[in-house]
Amino acid sequence: MAAFIQITDTHIVPEGELAYNRSDTAAALNEAVASINAILPRLDPVDCAIITGDLTDYGTPAEYARLKRILAELQLPYLAIPGNHDVRDAMRAAFADQAWMPEAGPIQWHRDFGDFSVIGLDTLVEGSHHGMLCDEGLAFLDRVLETLNGQPVVVATHHPWMHSGVVAMDNNNLRNGGALLDRLEAYGGPARMISGHVHRTLTTQIGKVTCQIAPAPCHAVHLSHQAASINSLIMEPGGVTLWNWHDAPRSCLVSNVIPVGTFKGPWPFYG
Ligand SMILES: [Fe+2]
Ligand SMILES: [Fe+2]
Repeated sequence: MAAFIQITDTHIVPEGELAYNRSDTAAALNEAVASINAILPRLDPVDCAIITGDLTDYGTPAEYARLKRILAELQLPYLAIPGNHDVRDAMRAAFADQAWMPEAGPIQWHRDFGDFSVIGLDTLVEGSHHGMLCDEGLAFLDRVLETLNGQPVVVATHHPWMHSGVVAMDNNNLRNGGALLDRLEAYGGPARMISGHVHRTLTTQIGKVTCQIAPAPCHAVHLSHQAASINSLIMEPGGVTLWNWHDAPRSCLVSNVIPVGTFKGPWPFYG
Protein backbone atom coordinates (compact mmCIF):
# COMPACT_ATOMS: atom_id res chain seq x y z
CA MET A 1 0.00 0.00 0.00
CA ALA A 2 1.69 3.11 -1.24
CA ALA A 3 1.74 6.43 0.59
CA PHE A 4 3.37 9.83 0.54
CA ILE A 5 3.37 12.88 2.79
CA GLN A 6 2.64 16.27 1.24
CA ILE A 7 4.55 19.18 2.71
CA THR A 8 3.77 22.54 1.17
CA ASP A 9 4.64 26.22 1.44
CA THR A 10 7.65 25.93 3.71
CA HIS A 11 8.71 29.54 2.84
CA ILE A 12 12.24 29.21 4.20
CA VAL A 13 13.97 32.60 4.71
CA PRO A 14 17.64 33.39 5.44
CA GLU A 15 19.10 32.53 8.85
CA GLY A 16 18.06 35.05 11.50
CA GLU A 17 14.97 36.26 9.62
CA LEU A 18 11.25 35.66 10.02
CA ALA A 19 8.95 35.44 7.01
CA TYR A 20 6.92 38.67 6.87
CA ASN A 21 8.70 39.64 10.11
CA ARG A 22 6.33 37.27 11.96
CA SER A 23 6.58 33.63 10.94
CA ASP A 24 9.51 31.42 11.98
CA THR A 25 9.20 29.17 8.98
CA ALA A 26 12.43 27.25 9.63
CA ALA A 27 11.26 26.38 13.15
CA ALA A 28 7.90 25.29 11.70
CA LEU A 29 9.60 23.03 9.16
CA ASN A 30 11.91 21.59 11.82
CA GLU A 31 8.81 20.80 13.87
CA ALA A 32 7.08 19.28 10.83
CA VAL A 33 10.10 17.06 10.14
CA ALA A 34 10.12 15.96 13.78
CA SER A 35 6.36 15.29 13.67
CA ILE A 36 6.70 13.20 10.51
CA ASN A 37 9.69 11.25 11.84
CA ALA A 38 7.80 10.56 15.07
CA ILE A 39 4.69 9.23 13.34
CA LEU A 40 6.39 7.14 10.62
CA PRO A 41 6.89 4.04 12.85
CA ARG A 42 3.11 3.95 13.48
CA LEU A 43 2.12 4.21 9.81
CA ASP A 44 2.02 1.74 6.97
CA PRO A 45 5.17 2.29 4.90
CA VAL A 46 5.44 5.79 3.42
CA ASP A 47 7.40 6.03 0.16
CA CYS A 48 8.42 9.68 0.12
CA ALA A 49 7.49 13.28 0.80
CA ILE A 50 6.25 15.60 -1.95
CA ILE A 51 6.82 19.33 -1.46
CA THR A 52 4.30 21.34 -3.46
CA GLY A 53 6.01 24.69 -3.87
CA ASP A 54 6.93 27.90 -2.10
CA LEU A 55 9.90 26.02 -0.72
CA THR A 56 11.58 29.35 0.00
CA ASP A 57 10.36 32.91 0.36
CA TYR A 58 12.73 34.64 -2.10
CA GLY A 59 14.26 31.76 -4.09
CA THR A 60 17.85 32.48 -3.07
CA PRO A 61 20.61 29.83 -2.99
CA ALA A 62 21.09 30.48 0.74
CA GLU A 63 17.43 29.74 1.43
CA TYR A 64 17.53 26.51 -0.59
CA ALA A 65 20.69 25.49 1.28
CA ARG A 66 18.95 26.13 4.60
CA LEU A 67 15.90 24.15 3.43
CA LYS A 68 18.11 21.21 2.44
CA ARG A 69 19.83 21.23 5.82
CA ILE A 70 16.44 20.94 7.55
CA LEU A 71 15.19 18.28 5.12
CA ALA A 72 18.35 16.22 5.70
CA GLU A 73 16.75 15.24 9.03
CA LEU A 74 13.60 13.93 7.31
CA GLN A 75 13.54 10.13 7.30
CA LEU A 76 12.03 10.07 3.80
CA PRO A 77 13.30 10.88 0.32
CA TYR A 78 11.46 13.81 -1.25
CA LEU A 79 10.43 15.31 -4.57
CA ALA A 80 9.41 18.93 -5.14
CA ILE A 81 7.76 21.33 -7.55
CA PRO A 82 8.16 25.12 -7.49
CA GLY A 83 5.68 27.77 -6.31
CA ASN A 84 5.43 31.48 -6.95
CA HIS A 85 8.01 32.25 -4.24
CA ASP A 86 10.62 29.99 -5.86
CA VAL A 87 13.18 30.76 -8.57
CA ARG A 88 13.48 27.97 -11.09
CA ASP A 89 17.24 28.12 -11.78
CA ALA A 90 18.17 28.42 -8.10
CA MET A 91 15.86 25.54 -7.21
CA ARG A 92 17.25 23.44 -10.06
CA ALA A 93 20.82 24.10 -8.90
CA ALA A 94 19.95 23.29 -5.28
CA PHE A 95 18.37 19.94 -6.15
CA ALA A 96 20.61 18.97 -9.08
CA ASP A 97 21.62 15.91 -7.04
CA GLN A 98 18.06 14.57 -7.06
CA ALA A 99 17.00 12.12 -9.78
CA TRP A 100 13.60 13.79 -10.23
CA MET A 101 15.06 17.21 -11.11
CA PRO A 102 15.02 17.85 -14.90
CA GLU A 103 18.24 19.36 -16.33
CA ALA A 104 16.26 22.08 -18.15
CA GLY A 105 12.74 23.39 -18.69
CA PRO A 106 9.80 23.15 -16.29
CA ILE A 107 10.41 21.34 -12.98
CA GLN A 108 8.03 18.46 -13.59
CA TRP A 109 8.13 14.71 -12.99
CA HIS A 110 6.09 11.52 -12.83
CA ARG A 111 6.32 9.07 -9.92
CA ASP A 112 4.60 5.67 -10.21
CA PHE A 113 3.63 4.42 -6.74
CA GLY A 114 2.13 1.20 -8.12
CA ASP A 115 -1.37 1.73 -6.72
CA PHE A 116 -1.47 5.23 -8.21
CA SER A 117 0.72 7.76 -10.01
CA VAL A 118 1.62 11.32 -9.08
CA ILE A 119 2.46 13.84 -11.79
CA GLY A 120 4.15 16.98 -10.47
CA LEU A 121 3.74 20.04 -12.70
CA ASP A 122 5.45 23.43 -12.69
CA THR A 123 3.04 26.41 -12.50
CA LEU A 124 5.62 29.08 -11.67
CA VAL A 125 5.45 32.30 -13.71
CA GLU A 126 8.59 34.08 -12.54
CA GLY A 127 7.87 37.62 -11.39
CA SER A 128 4.16 36.88 -10.82
CA HIS A 129 2.14 35.40 -7.99
CA HIS A 130 -0.45 33.66 -10.16
CA GLY A 131 0.21 30.28 -11.78
CA MET A 132 0.11 29.03 -15.37
CA LEU A 133 0.81 25.67 -16.96
CA CYS A 134 3.08 26.11 -19.98
CA ASP A 135 2.62 24.22 -23.27
CA GLU A 136 5.57 22.01 -22.36
CA GLY A 137 3.89 21.11 -19.06
CA LEU A 138 0.56 20.26 -20.70
CA ALA A 139 2.36 18.18 -23.34
CA PHE A 140 4.23 16.33 -20.57
CA LEU A 141 0.91 15.70 -18.79
CA ASP A 142 -0.64 14.37 -22.02
CA ARG A 143 2.31 12.02 -22.62
CA VAL A 144 2.22 10.60 -19.09
CA LEU A 145 -1.59 10.23 -18.97
CA GLU A 146 -1.41 8.21 -22.18
CA THR A 147 0.87 5.66 -20.51
CA LEU A 148 -1.18 5.18 -17.31
CA ASN A 149 -4.02 3.02 -18.68
CA GLY A 150 -6.58 4.23 -16.17
CA GLN A 151 -4.32 3.94 -13.10
CA PRO A 152 -5.55 6.39 -10.42
CA VAL A 153 -3.68 9.65 -10.94
CA VAL A 154 -2.90 12.60 -8.70
CA VAL A 155 -1.71 15.82 -10.36
CA ALA A 156 0.28 18.01 -7.96
CA THR A 157 0.61 21.73 -8.68
CA HIS A 158 1.54 24.57 -6.35
CA HIS A 159 -1.31 26.77 -7.55
CA PRO A 160 -4.83 25.36 -7.24
CA TRP A 161 -7.52 25.93 -9.80
CA MET A 162 -10.37 25.43 -7.33
CA HIS A 163 -11.49 28.59 -5.60
CA SER A 164 -10.82 28.94 -1.89
CA GLY A 165 -13.12 31.90 -1.30
CA VAL A 166 -10.16 34.02 -0.14
CA VAL A 167 -10.35 36.62 -2.88
CA ALA A 168 -6.70 37.68 -2.92
CA MET A 169 -5.59 34.04 -3.23
CA ASP A 170 -8.16 33.17 -5.88
CA ASN A 171 -7.01 36.15 -7.95
CA ASN A 172 -3.59 34.48 -8.06
CA ASN A 173 -4.57 30.86 -8.62
CA LEU A 174 -3.85 28.56 -11.57
CA ARG A 175 -5.24 30.72 -14.35
CA ASN A 176 -5.37 27.99 -17.03
CA GLY A 177 -6.26 25.15 -14.65
CA GLY A 178 -9.30 24.43 -16.81
CA ALA A 179 -6.92 22.91 -19.38
CA LEU A 180 -5.71 20.52 -16.68
CA LEU A 181 -9.22 19.74 -15.46
CA ASP A 182 -10.43 19.01 -19.03
CA ARG A 183 -7.67 16.44 -19.42
CA LEU A 184 -8.44 14.77 -16.09
CA GLU A 185 -12.17 14.72 -16.90
CA ALA A 186 -11.34 12.92 -20.14
CA TYR A 187 -8.91 10.51 -18.42
CA GLY A 188 -10.09 6.92 -18.08
CA GLY A 189 -9.45 6.52 -14.34
CA PRO A 190 -9.87 8.27 -10.97
CA ALA A 191 -8.19 11.67 -10.86
CA ARG A 192 -7.29 14.29 -8.28
CA MET A 193 -5.69 17.70 -8.28
CA ILE A 194 -3.66 18.54 -5.16
CA SER A 195 -2.08 21.89 -4.40
CA GLY A 196 -0.76 24.29 -1.80
CA HIS A 197 -0.48 28.10 -2.10
CA VAL A 198 -3.54 28.95 0.02
CA HIS A 199 -2.04 27.76 3.34
CA ARG A 200 -5.40 26.28 4.32
CA THR A 201 -7.16 22.88 4.09
CA LEU A 202 -9.85 22.77 1.39
CA THR A 203 -11.58 20.08 -0.67
CA THR A 204 -14.07 20.15 -3.52
CA GLN A 205 -15.28 18.04 -6.41
CA ILE A 206 -15.29 19.52 -9.89
CA GLY A 207 -16.95 17.09 -12.27
CA LYS A 208 -15.23 13.75 -11.67
CA VAL A 209 -12.07 15.33 -10.29
CA THR A 210 -11.46 15.70 -6.56
CA CYS A 211 -9.51 18.91 -5.84
CA GLN A 212 -7.66 19.47 -2.57
CA ILE A 213 -5.50 22.19 -1.06
CA ALA A 214 -3.13 21.28 1.77
CA PRO A 215 -2.13 23.36 4.80
CA ALA A 216 1.41 24.65 5.40
CA PRO A 217 3.56 23.75 8.43
CA CYS A 218 4.00 27.48 9.17
CA HIS A 219 1.53 30.36 8.95
CA ALA A 220 -1.95 30.16 7.44
CA VAL A 221 -3.71 32.67 5.21
CA HIS A 222 -6.42 34.40 7.24
CA LEU A 223 -9.86 33.15 6.27
CA SER A 224 -12.07 35.94 4.96
CA HIS A 225 -14.47 35.94 2.03
CA GLN A 226 -14.63 39.74 1.98
CA ALA A 227 -13.08 41.23 -1.15
CA ALA A 228 -12.11 44.33 0.84
CA SER A 229 -10.13 42.32 3.42
CA ILE A 230 -6.39 42.89 3.54
CA ASN A 231 -4.71 39.59 2.69
CA SER A 232 -3.15 38.55 6.01
CA LEU A 233 -1.28 35.72 7.66
CA ILE A 234 -2.34 34.12 10.92
CA MET A 235 -0.52 31.66 13.15
CA GLU A 236 -3.11 28.87 13.09
CA PRO A 237 -1.74 25.36 13.78
CA GLY A 238 0.43 24.11 10.91
CA GLY A 239 -0.01 20.77 9.17
CA VAL A 240 1.30 18.21 6.71
CA THR A 241 -0.87 15.79 4.76
CA LEU A 242 -0.54 12.02 4.65
CA TRP A 243 -1.83 10.42 1.44
CA ASN A 244 -2.18 6.67 1.78
CA TRP A 245 -3.75 3.99 -0.37
CA HIS A 246 -6.39 1.71 1.14
CA ASP A 247 -7.32 -1.52 -0.63
CA ALA A 248 -10.53 -2.34 1.24
CA PRO A 249 -13.50 -2.26 1.11
CA ARG A 250 -12.94 -0.37 -2.15
CA SER A 251 -9.51 0.88 -3.06
CA CYS A 252 -9.06 4.60 -2.61
CA LEU A 253 -6.51 7.26 -1.74
CA VAL A 254 -7.14 8.77 1.71
CA SER A 255 -5.87 12.20 2.77
CA ASN A 256 -5.16 12.81 6.44
CA VAL A 257 -4.07 16.24 7.67
CA ILE A 258 -1.60 15.81 10.53
CA PRO A 259 -1.13 18.83 12.81
CA VAL A 260 2.48 19.83 13.37
CA GLY A 261 3.74 19.89 16.94
CA THR A 262 3.59 17.90 20.14
CA PHE A 263 0.34 17.38 21.98
CA LYS A 264 -0.83 15.94 25.28
CA GLY A 265 -1.55 12.20 25.15
CA PRO A 266 -2.17 9.69 23.76
CA TRP A 267 -4.08 7.97 26.53
CA PRO A 268 -6.11 4.75 26.26
CA PHE A 269 -9.83 5.58 26.25
CA TYR A 270 -10.47 2.94 28.93
CA GLY A 271 -8.21 1.46 31.63
FE1 LIG B 1 2.83 29.96 0.10
FE1 LIG C 1 2.20 30.33 -3.32
